[in-house]
Amino acid sequence: MGTSAEQQPSLSTRDLSIRFGGHVAVNAVTADFYPGTLTVIVGPNGAGKTTYFNLVSGQLPATSGSVLVRGADVTRDGAARRTRLGIGRAFQLTNLFPNLTVIENVRLAVQSRAGLGLNFLSIWSSHKELVARAEHYLERVALAGRRDTRVGALPHGDQRKLEVAILLALEPDIMMFDEPTAGMSVDEVPVVLDLIQKVKDERNKTVLLVEHKMDVVRQLADRIVVLVNGTLVADGKPVEVMQSKIVQEAYLGTPEPQHAQA
Ligand SMILES: Nc1ncnc2c1ncn2[C@@H]1O[C@H](COP(=O)(O)OP(=O)(O)OP(=O)(O)O)[C@@H](O)[C@H]1O
Ligand SMILES: [Mg+2]
Repeated sequence: MGTSAEQQPSLSTRDLSIRFGGHVAVNAVTADFYPGTLTVIVGPNGAGKTTYFNLVSGQLPATSGSVLVRGADVTRDGAARRTRLGIGRAFQLTNLFPNLTVIENVRLAVQSRAGLGLNFLSIWSSHKELVARAEHYLERVALAGRRDTRVGALPHGDQRKLEVAILLALEPDIMMFDEPTAGMSVDEVPVVLDLIQKVKDERNKTVLLVEHKMDVVRQLADRIVVLVNGTLVADGKPVEVMQSKIVQEAYLGTPEPQHAQA
């Protein structure tokens, strides 16, 4: 567990805010995230979870406050530079190449990680190891059977799995998943969530996960952060946060039944 006081956070936000017109979508959020920990961010629809991710990854500019990567201020840096510094984000299908096959999509990510650029056609035959690594990631998300399917023809749940494979292939230190299991069938959900947990444990990644399914949250989270109306209203161990009055009132609506495992 990476919450010891002497360890440096891999990612921090300080009073991070963004305002859209008169609406403050993320309101002075201060939090530290550590390697080897999985933080689940929960909150009602419109609470600002996705917007917070956009501020961290650089898709949106902060109105005020700051984003730090390993203590270095990246608030004025663009998304591309933040990616190079190790912030990785699954983009809900917008970063897939629909006319390429599943394996080609993952291979591009492996190749990009390997620093070889995107001129892949010319070196296809000489880079069997890139393909082998891509196949490895496909196996990890249980997509090997779809290897040669054109991505545009994949069912939605498989596209989401592919997205996870691509993010894994890019090997960022900080991984952000925004509802990665949305649109997946019930039997696919554990495959992806187990994988996210394994990556966190084996590779000492800093994982931020937005997830609505409360059983999942309870199972995976080392820590839970709760956003309501853009404001961080709770941050702590799952058991404490789930039982806190503010969460039960503001988010869960009804009191949680007491769990023996607490
Ligand atoms: N680009 C934008 N321009 C204007 N308002 C925006 C923009 N992006 C988000 N918002 C607003 O900011 C608020 C937070 O939205 P956000 O999508 O971050 O919520 P969320 O917690 O991810 O919700 P959900 O659980 O539904 O995904 C909402 O009121 C939304 O309408
Ligand atoms: Mg969202």
